[in-house]
This record gives sequence, structure tokens and C-alpha cells, in this order.
Amino acid sequence: MRTRKAILPDAAKIHGLISSYSGDGTLLPRTLHEICENVRDFVVLENDDQIIGCGALHLYGTHLAEIRSITVAPGAQGQGGGSKLVNALMLEAKRHGVTCICLFTRSPQFFGKLGFRVAKREDLPDKIYKDCHVCPRFHCCDEVAMVRGEVPKFAILPEPANFLIKIQAGPQANYHPQGD
Ligand SMILES: CC(C)(COP(=O)(O)OP(=O)(O)OC[C@H]1O[C@@H](n2cnc3c(N)ncnc32)[C@H](O)[C@@H]1OP(=O)(O)O)[C@@H](O)C(=O)NCCC(=O)NCCS
Repeated sequence: MRTRKAILPDAAKIHGLISSYSGDGTLLPRTLHEICENVRDFVVLENDDQIIGCGALHLYGTHLAEIRSITVAPGAQGQGGGSKLVNALMLEAKRHGVTCICLFTRSPQFFGKLGFRVAKREDLPDKIYKDCHVCPRFHCCDEVAMVRGEVPKFAILPEPANFLIKIQAGPQANYHPQGD
């Protein structure tokens, strides 16, 4: 069993793996279009040249990245594949100089074994802005926010929200890329 970076021909298989766990809300649904567009975020898990799992790392900035869409095919679970995927994505985050990795999950025990700890959702505005504010379960979320590394002191949000918002006082909080 090994992991490798995904390439475009893997997109349909990745879509199938995610879709099998998005119907019941375990994973956020991802369209094939979205997967193709973001295929460079993905790592796949292979056994005998067959793709049996996948996961993605979404980059918000060096302050934060998010592990998403982690799944291993039912018949291949419990053999260390999920851990291999998370470790590969953590290595990728390190390569990018990311200081905090977050994720939202209903399987906190699995991620706890990999060094993640429970966090406050409000400490992760980049993620809230990207996904949560359009989620039908925004006010009744049953996912646990977890982080590994230093909780970010700022967030980078797309226009028209504030380009950069300060969460806590700190050296990076004074960074004003637009010169104001
Ligand atoms: C969660 C998932 C990716 C784990 O993959 P896996 O290949 O079974 O994981 P591993 O074999 O690497 O397991 C590592 C450890 O975590 C434990 N573990 C695995 N899945 C777990 C879960 N859902 N809850 C709690 N612990 C879990 C294993 O028992 C193992 O413990 P051990 O080291 O003490 O033996 C897989 O079960 C899956 O695809 N689930 C459906 C999709 C999902 O829930 N994704 C995560 C949502 S963000």
C-alpha cells in the first residue's frame, strides 16, 4: 500500500470514493468538476495499482491548511491506509511551510491518534468562510474541529470579505498586505 500525488485520470475514481461517503454526510460532497479543478490537492492510496483511498490538502496560507475528503474503500479499512494518507498530507503541508493543519470530522478518535486535538471552530474563520457559512447544518453542526500545530492568529479571506482579519493580537496580526 502506498500513497502518491493524484493526477487527472484519477479524478473519476476519487469522485466515486468520496460520493460513497457523502450521501450520509460523512464527507462533504465534491463534484467531478471540483475534483478535476483541484486534483493537485489530492493524494491517492494504491494497492496493486488499484486506487483504494484518497485525501486532499486545501491551502489557505502558511498559517493554515485543511485536510479534507479522507476516505479508504470499505474493504481496505483497518490496514493503516487512512494513516498513510493523513501522514502524506501532513508532509505536503510541511513542504509548504504551513504552521497549522485543521480538519472537521465525525471521527475524532482516528485523527486524535495522528496528533490532532480538538479546537474551537471560531478559531478557523478561513474554513468557516469557505464551507460552513453555506452549509445547511451551520447552526446544528455535529462535526468536531481539530487542529495540529499552532492555532492561526489571522485569517485570509477572499473579497468582498475583509482581505485579512486579525484573530488575536500577535506579530502577524499587524500584517497589512494592501498597505492600509
Ligand atoms: C476514517 C478512515 C479514513 C480510516 O481509515 P483506515 O485505513 O481504516 O485507518 P487506519 O487503518 O490507518 O487506522 C488507524 C487507527 O485509527 C483507528 N480508526 C480507524 N477508523 C476509525 C474511526 N472511524 N474512528 C475511530 N478510530 C478509527 C484504527 O482502529 C487504528 O487504530 P490503531 O492504530 O490503534 O490500530 C476510514 O475508516 C474511512 O474511510 N471512513 C469513512 C470516511 C471517513 O469517515 N473519513 C473521515 C472523515 S473526515
